[in-house]
Amino acid sequence: MRMYDIIKKKRDGGELSAEEIRFFIEGYTRGEIPDYQAAALCMAIFYRDMTLRETTDLTIAVRDSGERPDFSSIKGIRMDKHSTGGVGDKTSLVVMPIVASLGAKVAKMSGRGLGHTGGTVDKLESIKGFRTELDECEFVDIVNKTGIAIVGQSRELAPADKKLYALRDVTATVDSMPLIASSIMGKKLAADDDCIVLDVKTGSGSFMKTVEDSRKLAQIMVSIGKAVGKKIMALITDMDRPLGFAIGNSLEVIEAVETLRGHGPDDLTEVCVALASNMLCLGGSGTLEECENAVKGAIADGSALAALEAMVEAQGGDPEWIRNTSLFPKAEFSREVCAAENGYIVSVDTEGLGTASLMLGAGRNTKDDKIDHSAGIILIKKTGDRVRRGQTIARLYTNDRGRLDAAEEKLLESTHIGAKAPQSRPLIFAKVE
Ligand code: URA
Repeated sequence: MRMYDIIKKKRDGGELSAEEIRFFIEGYTRGEIPDYQAAALCMAIFYRDMTLRETTDLTIAVRDSGERPDFSSIKGIRMDKHSTGGVGDKTSLVVMPIVASLGAKVAKMSGRGLGHTGGTVDKLESIKGFRTELDECEFVDIVNKTGIAIVGQSRELAPADKKLYALRDVTATVDSMPLIASSIMGKKLAADDDCIVLDVKTGSGSFMKTVEDSRKLAQIMVSIGKAVGKKIMALITDMDRPLGFAIGNSLEVIEAVETLRGHGPDDLTEVCVALASNMLCLGGSGTLEECENAVKGAIADGSALAALEAMVEAQGGDPEWIRNTSLFPKAEFSREVCAAENGYIVSVDTEGLGTASLMLGAGRNTKDDKIDHSAGIILIKKTGDRVRRGQTIARLYTNDRGRLDAAEEKLLESTHIGAKAPQSRPLIFAKVE
């Protein structure tokens, strides 16, 4: 078998066999297939798509590309949620402590930022001392003690995805349905959780721009999960505007903490409550209504925030930073961005806002770039808000003053002001079970 022939077959619209898919994934993982051939195949898949059968085979090959961790010594039901990626999407930092505080076990392996979207691991690393690399024993130990641990995807877990994820990030091949589905589900199946809730984003900040595409992606992932016997469902949630006001790593941790204190932005709170309730319900903790009440109770009585603090401490982070978020270092430079005209924010190009945050240093342009944890954006006005010319609509933060001009330009170009208020959009579009 030759990689050249596999690329050519997909480029010409052919359907790859399970053997060809496995040849690619195994060869790429072992370093025998170079990045340029893997990138060419990803681009061919991007343009030619894959059938559900091919996507399932790709997922299984990704799952089997490394070691499968043994979490059998974790007592209780292990739950996970996975977002397809968004801007200002800090839901994992809120949802996972909530469900852990209500008795679920969270042994979560998360990703780094990808394209214009942020990643939970980068966010957590903005907390002083927080370790996102733990060996399996320590990881299991922390989950058994505190109910929750979140680490980066280990080198051994679905290593094919780790390499492909970084490659896709810099070759404009992220937003492909089979590549996203196999990336997410390959990892989820390798981690072998009992219940999985997928948060499939839709809109201008998501990899899937329309509700129809998001629904299709959700259906593919739920089908793959069910085919291998998982309890799995998906919510399709809005990403036509950032979730909350904060975009960028430490800024998002601070907003997540505020949400766990019960003072978070309404949109973020609503989506987090829905995800956590559905997760508990899927795990058999009660009816959806009972689970929703329990989730709201865990926020109100502080137990969800206490679960986050316990996790931070157990993973070497300074829990004082969670108790007092003013300890997070501030970026050296900031700039107010002002509206150029009177009117309403009728829409935003959310991907553009994610890119502006990346331009400030909050994300990576190449796979080895270092992140500026305090860089990012605080939105002051969001879609639907009325603005006056000269009024501040956002604040930019960075430690590299030279980045401000381009980021400001990107933010303004991504914010559309018009005379009439836009129609409101739902935050949660559908459930796929
Ligand atoms: N999240 C993932 O884990 N993989 C993708 O491809 C996109 C979002």
